[in-house]
Amino acid sequence: MSQDPRKFFVTTPIYYVNDVPHIGHAYTTIAADVISRYKRLEGYEVFFLTGTDEHGQKVHQAAEQSGVTAQAHVDSLHQRFKDLWVRFNISNSDFIRTTEERHTKVVKEILKNLFDRGEIYRDSYEGWYCLPDERFWTEKDLIDGNCPECKRPVEKIKEFNYFFKMGQYQEWLIDHIKSNEDFIQPTSRRNEVLGFLGKPLEDLCISRPKERLPWGVPLPFDEDYVTYVWFDALINYISIHGDLEGIKASGYWPCQHHLVGKDILTTHAVYWSTMLKAMGLEPPDNIFAHGWWTVNGQKMSKSLRNVVEPNLLIDQFGVDVIRYFVMREVPFGLDGDFSHKGLIGRVNSDLSNNLGNLLNRTLNMIKKYQGGIILPPAEETDADQALNKKAAEVLKEIRPLYDQLAYNKVLIKVWELVDLTNQYINNMEPWNLAKSDEGKTRLTRVLYNSCESLRMTAILCSPFMPGKCEELVKQLGMDQSIGEQGLASLESWGYLAGDTQTQAGEQLFPRIDEEAEKKILATLEQAGDEKKIDESIEPVLDQVTIDDFFKMDLRTAKILEAEKVKKSKKLIKLKVDIGCETRQVVAGIAEAHEPETLVGKTVILVANLKPAKLMGIESQGMILAGSDEGKILLAGFDDTLKPGVRVK
Ligand code: MSP
Repeated sequence: MSQDPRKFFVTTPIYYVNDVPHIGHAYTTIAADVISRYKRLEGYEVFFLTGTDEHGQKVHQAAEQSGVTAQAHVDSLHQRFKDLWVRFNISNSDFIRTTEERHTKVVKEILKNLFDRGEIYRDSYEGWYCLPDERFWTEKDLIDGNCPECKRPVEKIKEFNYFFKMGQYQEWLIDHIKSNEDFIQPTSRRNEVLGFLGKPLEDLCISRPKERLPWGVPLPFDEDYVTYVWFDALINYISIHGDLEGIKASGYWPCQHHLVGKDILTTHAVYWSTMLKAMGLEPPDNIFAHGWWTVNGQKMSKSLRNVVEPNLLIDQFGVDVIRYFVMREVPFGLDGDFSHKGLIGRVNSDLSNNLGNLLNRTLNMIKKYQGGIILPPAEETDADQALNKKAAEVLKEIRPLYDQLAYNKVLIKVWELVDLTNQYINNMEPWNLAKSDEGKTRLTRVLYNSCESLRMTAILCSPFMPGKCEELVKQLGMDQSIGEQGLASLESWGYLAGDTQTQAGEQLFPRIDEEAEKKILATLEQAGDEKKIDESIEPVLDQVTIDDFFKMDLRTAKILEAEKVKKSKKLIKLKVDIGCETRQVVAGIAEAHEPETLVGKTVILVANLKPAKLMGIESQGMILAGSDEGKILLAGFDDTLKPGVRVK
């Protein structure tokens, strides 16, 4: 079975669980939420998937640094994303984590299937490996001998690995892209992918030896390897629906939209499409690569400490205002610049002055002239036609714009209706109509039309601002939610019942005046400063009792021998004397210490730590050290103590 015409499947990338969620992550998720909500209004059964990418080198390293298992690390970290999506009113159908059984099971099944069918083979490989990016590069890819992506040094590695026969699908993929205009969007990005495919497409190394990276899905046909994190992660889009048979039966494949940032287009357009081809599944209908947000013209990065923290923004502005801003400010597909001033500007002009004001003035006049009731309207006259016609035009034009993910154009279109309604009120001069009986009859139509236009606006904008738009229809006095009214209620003018008691409430979009702006900016700045401190200093962990502490057996240990671990930049193997015995310990200090300078030093060893293997070498304990931005200092004593003394 294939795509069910009533079903609609949209995905975000699954976010690296290590990252602190920022406005860039929120952007893709909001975009996916908007289209999901719109399609639900159209009557589709929508499956909207997001989640976290939890395997790989970086997660492994971060867990080691925090002294917890990788599983415990991801179990706690993924929650930040889940919590943020709840705050942002994201209506995802599921949240996938790549460490879940339901996912790893499918990854293994697919790998086995591809291996059995000869789509995956074993070969020796020599290349330049970038540890932080977990990628191999060829000599010609390198820039000044460094990784072309992150610019950090690479290591030459020769080893056996498993390869997916990606190269054989090159012609098929080029052909598919060329004959399906909507497959990769925007067009400029589509051309980039075609450019990339202009060079020979190599096979894809899909394994990592466990001795180098133990944290991943084990290959089902060779337990000494784990799966390359991208090969594992991409499969989330189908593992959510079960195995290969499950996805075919679900009616959700091919997926309508994979929304991704421009930086991960190649992995989706090339790796993922060819993986699907090998699995016997169709490519997705569309992969849409959106642009990146900068902050005041600069790239957002932890080291620049300019990451826009969405929770802080929500506290200051509320959820819907931010959702509106990111979707309205920049055409989806282009890069954009984030600034608080820009955000405040949009709140004041579009939301407060235009839409908010239209609602306020309409409700105020209904209160003043009609006792708060939207009365049954008098007959329409020619003077009402323009508004009516505009509403029909907006509705017609908006549908394809939503389908093209032209979010900002959707909003521009709706605001044409908002502006015209404000103008309509100005032209009709209700304050003069209210002066005569005849005028009052006419006024019922003018105020009714303003309300019907507001209701329509609320429904059309509700995918962007679900909370505020529900509030708007409530203030109009309607009992039916937006979902219950549906898009069908917009087909003809006049769905709103004429005899409705309005429920004016708080202003939907209060204006942010100069005073309020200063206050908000000061709060954000202060919160930003506090965050800087938080970022560099880890929070203190939960309290332990003295008994808990004494369970740790810390000993003075004299270093007898030290040598670098082969193939590792970080690890040193030590032999230490702890009075009663000698121990072999592996420590991640090679980047800051030459082995020969360590011999003779007395350090502190956690002597009763369960032995663990690092790059295949047993470590019988852990040396205490403190590290700060590349500096690694060993904990020690102000004078010499003999080996084996307990430290407490
Ligand atoms: N884990 C991979 C995706 C695997 S999907 C099978 C990954 N994760 S990520 O957390 O690094 O990035 C997730 C998304 O956030 C990407 O689409 C990326 O483009 C987006 N963004 C990261 N920074 C961004 C901005 N500054 N602006 C807009 N989007 C940005 O890649």
